[in-house]
Amino acid sequence: MPVTAHALKFSKVGSPDVLEWTTEELQQPAADQIQITQRAIGVNYIDIYHRSGLYPLPLPSGVGVEGVGIVEAVGENVKNFVPGDRVVYVGGPPGGYASARNVPAARALKLPDDIPTEVAASLIFKGLTVEYLIRRCHEVKKGDAVLFHAAAGGIGLIAGQWLKHIGATVIGTVSSEEKAKLARANGYDHTIIYTKENFTERVRDITRGEGVSAVYDSIGKDTFAGSLDTLRPRGILISFGTASGHVPPLDLAQLGAKGSLFVTRPSIAHYTAKREELEAAADALFEAIRLEHLKAIETKTYPLREAAQAHRDLEGRKTAGSLILVP
Ligand SMILES: NC(=O)c1ccc[n+]([C@@H]2O[C@H](COP(=O)([O-])OP(=O)(O)OC[C@H]3O[C@@H](n4cnc5c(N)ncnc54)[C@H](OP(=O)(O)O)[C@@H]3O)[C@@H](O)[C@H]2O)c1
Repeated sequence: MPVTAHALKFSKVGSPDVLEWTTEELQQPAADQIQITQRAIGVNYIDIYHRSGLYPLPLPSGVGVEGVGIVEAVGENVKNFVPGDRVVYVGGPPGGYASARNVPAARALKLPDDIPTEVAASLIFKGLTVEYLIRRCHEVKKGDAVLFHAAAGGIGLIAGQWLKHIGATVIGTVSSEEKAKLARANGYDHTIIYTKENFTERVRDITRGEGVSAVYDSIGKDTFAGSLDTLRPRGILISFGTASGHVPPLDLAQLGAKGSLFVTRPSIAHYTAKREELEAAADALFEAIRLEHLKAIETKTYPLREAAQAHRDLEGRKTAGSLILVP
């Protein structure tokens, strides 16, 4: 039986208005794909980079890099899923903003029964990002002082809880007192309202002049230079997003002058490319959720059809925690 799917797509880059509601009949899944009826879809900042053209995609394109749903059909080479399985997937071709779709089985994972569907959509892509950022890209250890920008965002709240569990001293930046309060309730020891305070000076004060051993910077253009100045000698800047625009070119000599610093620009795609890496990362995340080292975070739900409004709110810095879409 052909399945009718609704999806948001865009054929030119631009404002949230470029997202168009489409209806199409889904093909049967190809040999290495599974077909999913989606129940909840996480909204991520990368969806905005795709839609706006900051990270160009071939057009027309779907949008969305994750989803949670029920397997309806499997391709002939797929051995690890059967119809009826509840799954989550991350990565693969953008197109998550859809009521149903075909995805590569290699990017999907069975969802443990004890993780509710909407919690999974709110935590998994972002949680897998936090897993690789703080355990593998740079391993944060007990007692380390760490700075995390956008502390009240989806990634930021998950990072606060996980870093606190590790035993780090966690410093976060946010734009308002309300977001600061939420960040503190999610593991941050210190919050800096960077619309009012100079975050570099405040980090120096908090660490008694020493600086942090790692700074996680997803803001990019506006914060990169200040972030470098929060580091102690041999500290690392992990530049993992560009909410304010691309980071300008870097003169490597600066890294020497500022104390033999490290800089990396990682992507979840490269840290979960191998199936065994994806599974190990997911196991660590599911365990953190099960043991309540990581609790559900503040989440706002939108009907799938209102995805453009979710984008306006996210890029307008109006949101805290996760945003999810429900078909
Ligand atoms: N490299 C990777 O593997 C990877 C994977 C996933 C996500 N990411 C990155 O992680 C970051 C967080 O993602 P998320 O989905 O959880 O988003 P989010 O943090 O919930 O939302 C972005 C937040 O960034 C802050 N911000 C600061 N300057 C901004 C500006 N000029 N424009 C818009 N927002 C600004 C805002 O918080 P305040 O109001 O507190 O300033 C805003 O709420 C994004 O940059 C994303 O690209 C990277």
